[in-house]
Formats: sequence, structure tokens, C-alpha cells
Amino acid sequence: MNGPDSRELILKNINAALKSRKLYPPGHPAIAAPVNKTHSLLTEELKSMNNLAMAIVNETLVFEDDMVPDGEKLYPDLIQYMTEKSVDAIIFEKGFSNKELADTFEILAGAQVFQGQELQKELHSRGILRITLKAMPTGKRNVLEIYNGAVEIIQNVMGEVRMGKIPKAGPISDIVSEMTESVFSDPHAMLGLTMIKNYDNYLYNHSVNVSIMALSLGKAMGLSEAELHAVGVGALLHDIGKTGVSEQIIRKPGGLSSEEWDKIKQHPQLGSNIIKRMEGMDETIGRLIYEHHIKFDHSGYPETVDSLHPLSQVLTICDAYDALTTLRVYQKPHDPVEAIKVMSNFSGRHFNPDMLKAFMNMMGLYPVGTMVRLTNGEIGIVTRLNDGTPEKPVVKILYGEDGAEVSSPFEADLRFDGSREIVTNVNPATTTTDLGAFFEKEAAG
Ligand SMILES: [Fe+2]
Repeated sequence: MNGPDSRELILKNINAALKSRKLYPPGHPAIAAPVNKTHSLLTEELKSMNNLAMAIVNETLVFEDDMVPDGEKLYPDLIQYMTEKSVDAIIFEKGFSNKELADTFEILAGAQVFQGQELQKELHSRGILRITLKAMPTGKRNVLEIYNGAVEIIQNVMGEVRMGKIPKAGPISDIVSEMTESVFSDPHAMLGLTMIKNYDNYLYNHSVNVSIMALSLGKAMGLSEAELHAVGVGALLHDIGKTGVSEQIIRKPGGLSSEEWDKIKQHPQLGSNIIKRMEGMDETIGRLIYEHHIKFDHSGYPETVDSLHPLSQVLTICDAYDALTTLRVYQKPHDPVEAIKVMSNFSGRHFNPDMLKAFMNMMGLYPVGTMVRLTNGEIGIVTRLNDGTPEKPVVKILYGEDGAEVSSPFEADLRFDGSREIVTNVNPATTTTDLGAFFEKEAAG
């Protein structure tokens, strides 16, 4: 029996299996019967085709290419599970087993909560290879996944260089494109993630942070797409030359001998040499990396009289800011407001004044990630800036008027909240809050 009648029966049995799963434990006959029936009906359908899909398209159930009228009324459990678990298609392949089907229903309707792309991983880990739960939206990662993906890529790239291999440009370019998209769609969350400062993995997190800030600054400066991409890639790879300097020197606490210092100073040149050997790398990127420590007044290194590329200061400024706000062996971290103050003292010397101004405008009076004390004694973290009112950002309140941690932190938009104003920035070290962990949690939703 093929055709519409059979399909109706298939959907009916799938719905019954899922519905029974709510009421009975796995393996119960009330579930087994509709599973067996579904399996035999689908196997019959798959005699004449290799795979068969049911999907939700524009909120309507579709079986193969046919819309199912009244799907929501007739098969509410199937639609409910697919929607809740962000599944936009279930695909059955010829030869799938009864057990694969039963386990798939268990994953879809069972006690453990899997969602979206996790569902497919769970299917694979249980050996279900001939049934697919396709997740929506396809391929889009959240900002934290993108951040972590970028850390992994720079770590791999540097690992390859240390082993004498030439890394591929493709994955680097792809992750920078993904980060660029997020800097446009979710700028505050992306800037918040730069508060993740990994002491043990400093180089990788630092590289990603500098890249996010460089993309944000580039966006604020209105760079073209090509320029923005070069800046993002250059920032991500700005310290790639440190692979040529021994770990011992890089991690050395305290003073370096002049020979050791000379070694460190080679990393911009080493970095640009590596870029030259990588296929598909724009030569601007090598130049930005070569120039990232020269400084606006040329007081840095390598020594050169040549004028700087107009964009190399984007890297210099973002590099300095992330370094200042990070705990290092030789330095306590500055909070964002202090870091900006320190940097403005070097305007026109280390930093191009116009670009530094653009950076300061972008970061605001109280940059995302600043801990602040309010007029009523509460303490919170700036999570979002408000355009045009830099003194009134959105603050997530973590500590109440009495100084005790609030049980459920809440956001206050100071633009609309007359009772709360910022008195001053607070050194986060005086509280128990880990800013990196805070923004990780925010981004994970
Ligand atoms: Fe550097």
C-alpha cells in the first residue's frame, strides 16, 4: 500500500509512538506497537526510493513534497516535538532498523533534553546512522560557539606553524567572516566575550579578543568589506610570529635579558614571513602584522622610517587595550575605564589620535564589561551601550544596596531608570565576579 493512505497511516503511527512516550517508559508495548507499524510502513515506501523526508516548512508539515493539510490538528505531538527541539526535518534512509526508529523516538521525546544540532550528535553516538534529525537554523552558531571556534582555529594554526607546516588560509578566512557577521548582528555580546581572559591560554584568547575589537573598530570607522576582512585576519594572526620565540621567554615573569628581548622583538617580522608563505593571504595582512608594534611615533619595533599602513594602528590599539585589561605575570589587570585612561595618555605617541578617538567612542564612557557602582549602592556590569547617552548604558545588577549578591541578577536600562545613575567604576577584583564567566553565561543565553 503506497500513496496518500499509507502516508497518513505513517504519520498517525509516528504521532502515536511519540504521544505514548509521554505516558509510558521506553519499550512499553503501547510504544512498541506504533513503532513497529511505522517501521514496516516506511520500509514498504522505501522500496521505491532511497530516502524519505518529513519536514516543517513555513510552519506547515510536509511529507516528501506534499503539504499535509491540518497537520497540526492531526499530528500535534509530532509537530510539537519537532518545533520544541528545533528539528526541521526527519529523514529516513532505506534499510533503517526498527531499533534505530525506536531509539530516535526516545531521543526526540525522552526525558533527556537534546536540541537542534545536539540531536544529530546523540543519534550518531547511539549508532543511529540511517535516520537524520536535521536541525534549524542550518549552520548558524551562537556568538559563544563562534568565539570558541576562533580560539580553536588560532590554536591549531599556531600548532601547525610550530611543527613546521604552512597553515591553510581557508578556515581562518571563514572564521573571520563569521565573526564579522556577529560583530554586525550582535555587537555587544561580541565585545562582552572579549572579557574572557584565559591566563593559561593567553595567546589564543588574546588573538581572538584583538580580532573582535579590530572588527568592531573597523566597523565603526566604516571600512570596506575587504579592509575589514584584512584587519580581522591580521588581528587574529598578529602574534603568529611568537611561534618562533621560545615558550620560556614568552612566559617569563619579570625582566628579560637584552638577548631575550631581542628575540621577542623579532615576532612581527617572523609573523609576516609566515603570512607570505600562506597561499591566499592578502599581502596587506603581512604588512599589518609587521607593523603592529612600530607605534604611531615609530618609537616601537622593528625600527623603520617608512610610513605606516593606514590600518596597522587598528591592531596596535586593540592589542594594547586587551593586554592592559588582562592579568599578566608582570601586571594586574586594568578595568576598562582605567585602560582607556592609560591609553589616552599615549595619544599622538603610541597611538594615532584620530583612531584612538574612534576607539574610545566605540567603547563609550563605560565600556561593555565595566563593573560600576550606582547611586543607590548597587553594583553591576555594563552589558550594552546606548547610542547618544554614553553615561547611561544598560547595567546588569549583581549586588544589591546592602552589598550582598542578588539572587536573580536583572538588567536596568539607565536611560529609563531615574533612580539609578553610575557613580563610579569598580575594580572587579574587589568582588567575586569572574567577568569572562559572566559574559560566557550571557552569550549562552
Ligand atoms: Fe605582538
